[in-house]
Amino acid sequence: MKLGRLNHIGVATPSISESIVFYRDVMGATKIHDPFDLPDQGVKVCFVDTPGGDGALNGTQIELIEPLPGNASIAAFLEKNPAGGQHHVCYEVHDIHAAKAEFEAMGKRVLGEPRIGAHGTLIFFVHPKDMQGVLTEIMEVPSQAH
Ligand code: CO
Repeated sequence: MKLGRLNHIGVATPSISESIVFYRDVMGATKIHDPFDLPDQGVKVCFVDTPGGDGALNGTQIELIEPLPGNASIAAFLEKNPAGGQHHVCYEVHDIHAAKAEFEAMGKRVLGEPRIGAHGTLIFFVHPKDMQGVLTEIMEVPSQAH
């Protein structure tokens, strides 16, 4: 595995609309994208951009995640963490299938097959018990983007 850019930090929230107010008014976020549903994964998602250092373009994002009706895993997370909380971290790779094979070769539990994630590219998750307690998302980015 070759560690890539931190693409985003996933934060579960009981209310994306209230979280947007928080990131705008408390944290001073100026680029908050429109929320959208990701029905395949049972979530509503909203990306908040953080600026890059010294005006660089490569800041990262906070991914706000609110469960849609019928979602079990995020709803269970919010039952344990009613105010919401950090849910996962996401790193970029250039070849999602190679990354999956590498994790599996190291005995890490990849949760399901690569599927389209919130950025419209292929993603998978690795079990937190194999990742120092951190639910880890791996996301493919087009090679020419970096
Ligand atoms: Co994510």
